[in-house]
Amino acid sequence: MKTKLIPLFFGAMALMGCGDKETQEAPAKPTVDVDAMIGKMSLEQKAKLVVGTGMDFHIPDSILSKMPKPPVDPDTAYADMVKRIRTYLPGAAGNTSEYPEIGITTQVLADGPAGLRISPTRKDDDNTYYCTAFPIATVLASTWDTELVNEVGKTMGKEVLEYGADVLLAPGMNIQRDPLCGRNFEYYSEDPLVTGKMAAAMVNGIQSNGVGTSVKHFAANNQETNRMSTNTVVSERALREIYLKGFEIAVKESQPWTVMSAYNKINGQYVSESKDLLTNILREDWGFEGYVMTDWGGGSDIVTQMEAGNDLIMPGQKEQIETLIKAVEENKMDEAILDKNIKRILEIMVKTPRFKGYDVSGKPNLKKHAEVTRQAATDGMVLLENKDNTLPLTDVKKVAVFGTTSYDFISGGTGSGDVNEAYTISLIDGLKNGGFQINDALQTTYEAYIKDARAKQGKPDNWLAAIMGAKDPVAEMPIKAQDVSKAAESSEIALITIGRNSGEGGDRKPEAGDFYLTNTEKQLIAEVTKTFHAAGKKAIVVLNVGGVVETKSWAQIPDAVLCAWQPGQEAGNSVVDVISGKVNPSGKLAISFPVKYEDAPSSKSFPGYSIEGETGDEEDLSGFSFMRRVPWETVYEEDIYVGYRYYNTFEVPVAYEFGYGLSYTNFEYSNMEVDKQTFTDELLVSVTVKNTGTVAGREVVQLYLSAPTVILEKPEQELVAFGKTKMLAPGATETLHFVLRTKDLASFDVARSSWIVEAGDYELKVGASSTKINGTAKFNVAQEILGDKVHKALVPQADFKKLSRN
Ligand code: BGC
Repeated sequence: MKTKLIPLFFGAMALMGCGDKETQEAPAKPTVDVDAMIGKMSLEQKAKLVVGTGMDFHIPDSILSKMPKPPVDPDTAYADMVKRIRTYLPGAAGNTSEYPEIGITTQVLADGPAGLRISPTRKDDDNTYYCTAFPIATVLASTWDTELVNEVGKTMGKEVLEYGADVLLAPGMNIQRDPLCGRNFEYYSEDPLVTGKMAAAMVNGIQSNGVGTSVKHFAANNQETNRMSTNTVVSERALREIYLKGFEIAVKESQPWTVMSAYNKINGQYVSESKDLLTNILREDWGFEGYVMTDWGGGSDIVTQMEAGNDLIMPGQKEQIETLIKAVEENKMDEAILDKNIKRILEIMVKTPRFKGYDVSGKPNLKKHAEVTRQAATDGMVLLENKDNTLPLTDVKKVAVFGTTSYDFISGGTGSGDVNEAYTISLIDGLKNGGFQINDALQTTYEAYIKDARAKQGKPDNWLAAIMGAKDPVAEMPIKAQDVSKAAESSEIALITIGRNSGEGGDRKPEAGDFYLTNTEKQLIAEVTKTFHAAGKKAIVVLNVGGVVETKSWAQIPDAVLCAWQPGQEAGNSVVDVISGKVNPSGKLAISFPVKYEDAPSSKSFPGYSIEGETGDEEDLSGFSFMRRVPWETVYEEDIYVGYRYYNTFEVPVAYEFGYGLSYTNFEYSNMEVDKQTFTDELLVSVTVKNTGTVAGREVVQLYLSAPTVILEKPEQELVAFGKTKMLAPGATETLHFVLRTKDLASFDVARSSWIVEAGDYELKVGASSTKINGTAKFNVAQEILGDKVHKALVPQADFKKLSRN
């Protein structure tokens, strides 16, 4: 299939790039007079541009009928236009309006963070339109490799370009505040620096194709429970240092074309209605140049949204268009506000491939992209345990594979972050592809069990997953002792996979079967390990999970534990690349693994509580969707002490600390140096890493800072920089250099709305993890340094109790 996007202005430009699409560069930005376009628009056209054209829902009528009407009267020219633009990319999440007579093209907006999400098949068309399911964001963050993430972004962006989308609704970059957030898999880390750097690398990669991104969900959107209406109560400091910082880095270092405002409120106001957030912070403090769109159905007052700088309302409803027109006609809103919003939308439009008449092939190089995802996934896997060098497997051919998930591997999470990929390589297939022999009897037993369990299985608890046809992993099969014994006789090693899935629409549970392992799973690990050990053989556990699970109670039982996460469509091949030793694992955790859920600092306030005194109508379907709006509040009492900032400061033991991960080789650190003793505006830090083991490998190097307290209390340490060595052969060394500037050292002083570096003695720690410190260096700051002064914004409505080390 080849779809020529009709060029409206730049006929000549449309002819470019019919050659190798894989190497084509982003087309240059044409000069177009968008003000002149706006001048030609009627008020109705304006209202229909800032409100999206609805969504092509593939959900049951029983639910559809309860929803507000999409912005389409069936018999109008507008309806014809909507029908037409929806054919451009079936399965996209939404479109903006197209007015060919003015030269305005639609922008096709499509999910999502793990790859382009579109319909894989089309009516009356024999071609298929599968997309690559890349590793989930958690995997990418665990690579700590911004170059690799940039490469994944470039590859993902090619599919966006070649299938004809204009903006990819990605990356997701909320902080993994709590281990149970159902969408954590779409997000990078508990740390804002890792989050911001990963997102910037991803945005730069995707946008290098001349297509846009939408960093989301801006901001403090850290749970799925009552996600449409929850009020995040959070301090200005925690916002600036934790929840906004990643977005700030991404905006400053990659200038995403768009930002998606989140569903939730912050300190009492819907973020899509917050001028503080969308204008004062995003545009004025940070210099964002693109447009802001709502999340699908976010917020409730469209006039306030427009005034706040939320330029585009998605997916769009008829009532919203009517409200806007009325507001202007009745002088309740200045039309100039609409013009401003439209200008931002059009300034992005002129950069889009569709506007430039890009010749869409419909045929990205999926084979090549599969290689990228296979490698990226291996680099993000984290080796948690490896007794006596159990891994990599040497001289092993016959493998007994346990655990239902081994046969039904999970490539990624559910909801809009799911991708319609052509295939997922299971662990079994990966092993076979890697030349291993599988225990057939076990395979037969498991496959029969899975078939039967699937037939009996109900819909997932998560309503969105259920609507979208997703299935929970089947409950683990109780294993028979004689099956394990037989397998131990005929196989050389055991592999056991434990699987978990979650996604948009629901949070995970602090229960067996979710955060905790079930007794059946624990028995499986214990029984298989015991029986294989008795036969002089080993057992390895593979975690196929989108987020944190409890590990402390069982991870010492088997001989090795590999956290493979949800590694994308090449899943089994990627796992086998690591366990066979083809790839030496170099991933490290970008989230802490607590001993038990209650140890997580957010667990006391997650997912919040219903607000007393407010009359929540549980069936309130206002503002777009079947997603209920319940008066609800989540108070971020842990304040700045998120993740390792909490565990390290308050000395709460964890199962695996932030930054942890093993390798098949060893590294030695030396020569940690700073270029001066007194910091004024820049400090150079260097450290040398040597591979002292016997196989080649790469090391993630983490730089933490312990800062003094004058007026602001500080966590025990914070990540201020990180890097990854190149592939170091045994005996090889590399010196890594880091540059620290005022912004890297600064904390946020609420009283002055300013970033400040306090006077005193500082300590830098270079670590192989947040607790394995391999070198330190000291410097001082003679007197307080005032960094950026920013808007006073998003002030909590009332004071609330915050965790403090004092
Ligand atoms: C999700 C967004 C997504 C949008 C469009 C929303 O429900 O929260 O992440 O991009 O739908 O599918």
